[in-house]
Amino acid sequence: MPELKIGEKDFLLDGEPFQIISGALHYFRVHPDQWADRIHKARLMGLNTIETYVPWNLHAPTRGEFDTSAGLDLERFLKLVAAEGMHAIVRPGPYICAEWSNGGLPPWLLRIEGVELRRAEPQYLSALTEYLQAVYQIVAPLQVDRGGPVFLVQIENEYGAYGSDKEYLAELVRVTREAGITVPLTTIDQPDPQMLEDGRLDGLHMTASFGSRSTERFKTLREFQPTGPLMCMEFWDGWFDSWGFHHHTTTVEDSDTALDEILRVGGSVNFYMFHGGTNFGMTNGANDKGAYVPLVTSYDYDAPLDEAGNPTAKYHAFRKTIAKYAPVLDELPAEATPAPVFDASLTPRASLLDLLGEIGEARPGDHPATYEELEQDTGFVFYQAPAVDIAPGTLRIGEEVRDRAYVFQDGIPVGIMARDAHERALALPLLASPVQILVEDQGRVNYGPRLGEAKGLIGEVTVDGIPLTDWTSWRLDVDRLPELDLEGCSLNLGPQVLDGEFELAEAADLFLETSAWGKGLVWVNGFNLGRYWRKGPTQTLYVPAPVTRAGRNRIVVLELEAMAHPSAQFVDGLRLGQIEF
Ligand code: GLA
Repeated sequence: MPELKIGEKDFLLDGEPFQIISGALHYFRVHPDQWADRIHKARLMGLNTIETYVPWNLHAPTRGEFDTSAGLDLERFLKLVAAEGMHAIVRPGPYICAEWSNGGLPPWLLRIEGVELRRAEPQYLSALTEYLQAVYQIVAPLQVDRGGPVFLVQIENEYGAYGSDKEYLAELVRVTREAGITVPLTTIDQPDPQMLEDGRLDGLHMTASFGSRSTERFKTLREFQPTGPLMCMEFWDGWFDSWGFHHHTTTVEDSDTALDEILRVGGSVNFYMFHGGTNFGMTNGANDKGAYVPLVTSYDYDAPLDEAGNPTAKYHAFRKTIAKYAPVLDELPAEATPAPVFDASLTPRASLLDLLGEIGEARPGDHPATYEELEQDTGFVFYQAPAVDIAPGTLRIGEEVRDRAYVFQDGIPVGIMARDAHERALALPLLASPVQILVEDQGRVNYGPRLGEAKGLIGEVTVDGIPLTDWTSWRLDVDRLPELDLEGCSLNLGPQVLDGEFELAEAADLFLETSAWGKGLVWVNGFNLGRYWRKGPTQTLYVPAPVTRAGRNRIVVLELEAMAHPSAQFVDGLRLGQIEF
């Protein structure tokens, strides 16, 4: 059976020098019926390897669980890679960053008293051991020396950007080896001397992450690792987008030049991303370096294959450059064709606040319970305190709103407090009316020290300095909205649920234009497409063909703010928004 080894200068596959030309493709960001198509297109670009992270939070919504159904069937994904004649790199974290909520760390971890993330802390280690054992049960039999595709496994992720606990890294290696992983293990760090030093561990092969100035970055890496193959484990060929900013792109020329610099010196590469896909549902992460910046639903990444799986100019340029160094097949993927263009009218059906009993679970308490106290991983929580006699008065949240609070009095919207604008106070205009607050978790921070923080209304809640101490907190399951019978429900101002139907001749990729709507979520045939927000930059939500069907389809919208014209407009392709100039 073949084996991958770390040679003096190269990776050695079966004893022969092997240049890894890999592409990142996160199975959890692509509909499972489209995995094979995307993998095949990777091969046609000249790639010989597919790399994926593994998202702990998605596989283990509760401790002890390891869901491998449908879109989480990692074994099937890896077997599809093998069927395409390609190799695989698995990066199971446990922390993955990836613009993914909490960097993949499950929210239930945060409820363990005294837990310390990404350190050799016994409770954290015990939880991640269970997780890694479950991942490796799938991965170990699929290693290259057992006839499978997997030939590299990564330990942690850019650990040097977060900590320097070598005992923690050593423990991850021990668990990995004990679970039967025999392939070489790698670390990745940004090519910064301190990060490389803190993130490395003796015996693990170091790789770097960067998107430009490849020669210089490899030189820095070489200073820490004088021999062995050079690998850019994340060649950033694009970048992610955040709400309220421009759509990030990198020019074809710049990316292509940086790629050529890697390949020319015999370096190995993993395109980050080859195909980004979509943060479906409420899976996106966020950044916070003094200002909270949640990430958009699209993870197009300006990658060679766009969000809908179509080749871009970058795809063709990279393919040509790769062909200078490695064999590339003649076959080319089909170019994008325009998607069906039509409007579907929507009917406002119900006010969200009238559905609390159907999608919520109430809990009384002397303070607004955090998401963690409510065992609510993400999404929405609704809070209510009885009438206050002080009004107009100033409502104030002691520490922080995480992340967006829609405030009502007696069901009447009176304002918003947004974490991304550092807002935590609001004037209450009405006398003697209950205070109601709908909070949205807009995505857990996935990078840096604010990883793993609690969600909800943080700190004491007061009106004119007087604490409110009689609360009911509802955890809400908005994914149940598409199942409800909304006939005959009442309608008021504020968040609404709308629905509609549309007919298709056959299943097709669709692009829902949302720029005229306010803020909310959309489901097509019960599948949660993700968040939209008039802030942009993204203007479309991608509807993968496999969630649609020939004949009648149903769309459900949760609009948190307002929609002037209740109609869903489908356009012919992606609209990712304003780019930088
Ligand atoms: C780092 C991380 C990735 C991702 C990229 C930015 O390299 O390792 O998970 O967050 O940054 O897209």
